[in-house]
Amino acid sequence: MKLKSLSFSFTFQELHTNIVLDDAKGKTLPAVEVFAKSLWFMKTHFLRAVSAHLGYEPHPQAVRWVLTVPAIWDDNAKQFMREAAFQGGLITSKQSDQLLIALEPEAASLHCRKLPGSTFVGCSQPEGNKPTFEPGTKYLVVDAGGGTIDVVAHKVRKDGRIRELFRATGGAWGGTVIDRQFLNLMVIIFGEEFMNDFQTQHPKDYVELLQDFEVKKRGEGESIRVSLPYNFCHFKFDGKSVQEVIKAYAAESNNEVKFSGGKLVLSPDKVNSLFKDAHQQINDHVESLLQRTKLKDTKYIFLVGGFAESVRLQRSIKDQFGDRVTVLIPEEASLAVVRGAVAFGHDPSTICQRICRYTYGVGSYLPFEEGSHREDLKVVSEDMVLCKNIFQVWAEAGEVIGINEVWRETYTPIITNQRGIMFEFFKSLKRNVKYVDEENVEKCGCLVVEMPDLTGDKSRAVDLEVTFGGTEIKVVGYDHTSHTRRETYIDFLSM
Ligand SMILES: Nc1ncnc2c1ncn2[C@@H]1O[C@H](COP(=O)(O)OP(=O)(O)OP(=O)(O)O)[C@@H](O)[C@H]1O
Ligand SMILES: [Mg+2]
Repeated sequence: MKLKSLSFSFTFQELHTNIVLDDAKGKTLPAVEVFAKSLWFMKTHFLRAVSAHLGYEPHPQAVRWVLTVPAIWDDNAKQFMREAAFQGGLITSKQSDQLLIALEPEAASLHCRKLPGSTFVGCSQPEGNKPTFEPGTKYLVVDAGGGTIDVVAHKVRKDGRIRELFRATGGAWGGTVIDRQFLNLMVIIFGEEFMNDFQTQHPKDYVELLQDFEVKKRGEGESIRVSLPYNFCHFKFDGKSVQEVIKAYAAESNNEVKFSGGKLVLSPDKVNSLFKDAHQQINDHVESLLQRTKLKDTKYIFLVGGFAESVRLQRSIKDQFGDRVTVLIPEEASLAVVRGAVAFGHDPSTICQRICRYTYGVGSYLPFEEGSHREDLKVVSEDMVLCKNIFQVWAEAGEVIGINEVWRETYTPIITNQRGIMFEFFKSLKRNVKYVDEENVEKCGCLVVEMPDLTGDKSRAVDLEVTFGGTEIKVVGYDHTSHTRRETYIDFLSM
């Protein structure tokens, strides 16, 4: 399942539970509720369709849900999706394994690697241009969506599985940039007040105008003819008709636009200029990646996502990189993510190593070492002298982490009759973090493991097991004496 237009009015960095969205009329609703309701709708729709097909209703827990997110979203955004899926009734606990979060370009790459050569745009021979993925092959996946462009770099390992070469990179240069450029042009031609008044007085026509542009910008023609709704054409401003305003602008802009048969016609130059910024940003970014030493021998660029269906974007990428790298665009590029997500749902272990974005760890105590530990963190607990606030590192920023790689540690009570341990988790963009109270270290979750059985007292043991999943980190605490088991996915949302 792929949720469309996730990134309408906010960017991926800002996605957390407190975000509030407002509609065209300014009414507000928490973003998580909007997502939850959309997911609920899709779940209901999906189960109904499957029931009709099967002749009986599948057990809701027999479904594995895969939600996809852009790879450049941070962990907060992934947790946000988990929360929304929980509120939307896809899963019955926030930690449920029934939900997988997949990264979109990775999902797309799974799909692309399975395709026969002939299913790429411009490759007619069945086997002629068939991409091959022998060990060592490196490729980029450029997922060009509506909001974001998301790029990952992969290398095929000896066992055929995939290793991530860099953390995902990208930016907000997706297909909606073109729409915004068009709206800017409309404001330049007709004025901000005119456009605002038209939007408030004829909201339906306003949407229709944008929808027509959406259809027309997908065409391959050099110019674009946008139909102006009836109410637009008859909307007067300062006593001037729409036709007059367009004529006036044409005269001063070297005929970038004209009015013809109720349509606003954009000249080929004007159309190119609407696309230019997005193309430039995407090309510059991909170029900067290909310049990196690790990516010098990149063999393929897979261009996927809705915006990848744009013939103009395809041409721009092929012109810039076609002589060095084979640019492959699957037919129906916009579906590559969804199809790959299904493959990922069947075998989440296909991507088996990734680069850690943050340094992660748990706050801990260590026996105090004079001269080495910070004096102000010295504490005395019964017969022990300890240093508190130690950042015990699970994985460092930039480190390569295997999927399902596990970090384990055993903890013992530091006071008599201790009835539990509260673990606090931290993350930081820095490497070499020593203490949890350093600058740029933030708390990202906690787990309380109760130890109700006091037998054995200070020799009791609690294991902490941290598993780096495909896209999330799972932490399990286990008290051997009372067999208490507690687990959490690091709750980045509590921040
Ligand atoms: N033929 C085309 N020419 C130009 N743009 C296109 C074409 N087809 C689709 N688009 C654009 O692609 C975008 C949608 O792409 P996609 O469905 O991959 O986005 P998304 O996954 O919802 O967004 P994001 O990845 O940013 O979350 C829209 O901006 C749409 O206008
Ligand atoms: Mg997308």
